[in-house]
Amino acid sequence: MNVIRNKIKQSKSLTGPFPSFDIEKASEYPYQLFLEWFDEAVNNGVHGPHTMTLSTIDCNGSPDSRVLILKDVDEYGWYFASSSQSSKGKQMDANPNVALNFYWSLLGKQVRIRGKVSKMDEEMSAKDFLKRGTVAKAISLIGKQSSILETPCDVDEALVNQLHRIRKNPTLVYPFWTLYKVMAEEVEFWQADEERKHTRLRYSLEGGKWYKKRLWA
Ligand SMILES: Cc1cc2nc3c(=O)[nH]c(=O)nc-3n(C[C@H](O)[C@H](O)[C@H](O)COP(=O)(O)O)c2cc1C
Repeated sequence: MNVIRNKIKQSKSLTGPFPSFDIEKASEYPYQLFLEWFDEAVNNGVHGPHTMTLSTIDCNGSPDSRVLILKDVDEYGWYFASSSQSSKGKQMDANPNVALNFYWSLLGKQVRIRGKVSKMDEEMSAKDFLKRGTVAKAISLIGKQSSILETPCDVDEALVNQLHRIRKNPTLVYPFWTLYKVMAEEVEFWQADEERKHTRLRYSLEGGKWYKKRLWA
């Protein structure tokens, strides 16, 4: 058998044991259930529970996706930060329809969020930027995320320059650093079951009210 196909076949997924998901007891609002699931992930030692995939749409209508870090969640949405000059930043400027995906394999839980993204104001974005580590700030200040890197040693030189600027002015903020908020219109909670009888619950926002529907797995 083809080596890679064999390795894929032998890879384990959805092995459990998994927690049960009582849909009857699910919160009225999806962000509340998300917070409960997030707590469960943290309490069970899930590695990087705040790691998620952001999907965007480019100017040709083709999907794109990448991993990001979740910064906050509240009743208004899910927050992350990036450069508005990056590929994703430009894609979101042109088309605010996005999707987020979390997968916590240890618990067999997946959360899918679809909605519209918006930019938080400059003050909040600056606050987020200033909370970053020095090197992370310096890398952002270079301001070249997603552009072609012709000469790898240019990175070191650019980094040294930006670290020098930060040393001289510790409150320096990269002007395109942006805190984004995804306002959900649909949120699906998916709980794996070892016997493959997975449980799916979808919340949909209609006329300002959240409706819950169970889905076939
Ligand atoms: C675990 C992990 C966390 C990441 N967190 C962020 C983040 O919070 N913000 C960000 O701009 N990029 C983050 N990245 C890098 C992105 O995945 C991506 O490479 C970068 O943002 C450029 O994406 P773009 O070209 O689609 O704009 C992270 C990557 C990984 C693997």
